[in-house]
Amino acid sequence: MNSDWNKSKTEISPSIAKAVQALKEGGVVAIPTETVYGLAAKITSDSAIRKIFSTKDRPFFDPLIVHVTSVEQAKTLVKEWPQSAQILAEAFWPGPLTLVLPKNNSVTDLITSGLETVGLRCPRHPMARAIIENLGEPVAAPSANRFGRTSPSTAQHVADEFKNKVLVVDGGPCEVGIESTIVKLNESHSTIDLTLLRAGAIVPEQMKTALENCSHKQIIFHQPGRNIEAPGQVKHHYMPTIPVLSINRTTWDSFNCSIENVNLHLGASFLQPCFLNLNSSPEQAARELYSELRKCSTPPHDVIVFIKDSHHQGEYWAALLDRLNRASTYSL
Ligand code: TXA
Ligand code: MG
Repeated sequence: MNSDWNKSKTEISPSIAKAVQALKEGGVVAIPTETVYGLAAKITSDSAIRKIFSTKDRPFFDPLIVHVTSVEQAKTLVKEWPQSAQILAEAFWPGPLTLVLPKNNSVTDLITSGLETVGLRCPRHPMARAIIENLGEPVAAPSANRFGRTSPSTAQHVADEFKNKVLVVDGGPCEVGIESTIVKLNESHSTIDLTLLRAGAIVPEQMKTALENCSHKQIIFHQPGRNIEAPGQVKHHYMPTIPVLSINRTTWDSFNCSIENVNLHLGASFLQPCFLNLNSSPEQAARELYSELRKCSTPPHDVIVFIKDSHHQGEYWAALLDRLNRASTYSL
């Protein structure tokens, strides 16, 4: 871990000063992070937190992630800070990893939707960090999109999503492009149990390696079960404004690569498919994913076609495919 990261204060620009003032007054502000843009509010004001839910049309059963700038700040929000949290934070904070741990009373039920746990993330985008540091308290921030819709990876995406009604701090295009990995930690005297609640840029293999190098406890990694533990991980999510068809290459070939044949199979009548072209590097593909989905959603297109290829393998691709599966109306 770079020992300076939780000390350094970024020079405060007018846009950051304005954002901090709005947050202090109990407003919501869209802020850049390295994953996606977040819709932030200070955690000490219930009315500010309610504005996040109303702005997004988000149901209250879907809990928010709390963003901090240091391990010290994270510790003020939880009952205990286990060894596994310390190891993972040292390895991956600041960065795209959210740790779910039992909360203490400084986190309201409104933020956690009544759960006994809280999701904690320490973003590395310098503007997000400057905003939280200058505010002097953590912010809750879901992705800055209407509930169920495609997440924003540029300031323009947020402006379009909320029709310019939300103050947006422009921090450029997001470096990672998909939301953070979420992992729930459960530690006993002899074991560390991790449950992957959402796949992301920090992949299970990296977490296992970090833990195995630093702990003698047995490490048990659970993939999420059928019961969705992250309440926001509903089946349909990330949806663009037109349907997405996700199709395996072999199936596409068996339809002679023809949308008319797919139409016959589905009983659909798509005329103007847009083929989602993703970079062969999953890191680059993640960066471009939400912009590409938006570009494809424009007229005259009436369906987005994603062809799943044999090279879409591995843990980083799994994080992208998770988004695409949830965004898809049809999977063949
Ligand atoms: O990269 C990110 O994590 C972005 C940026 C803005 O930081 N934030 C983000 O927040 O993706 P959101 O609200 O769009 O997604 C958070 C997910 C939801 O699926 C929610 O259900 C889950 O995290 N979550 C939050 N707190 C939880 C908890 N205590 N237990 C289980 N799941 C939780
Ligand atoms: Mg979201």
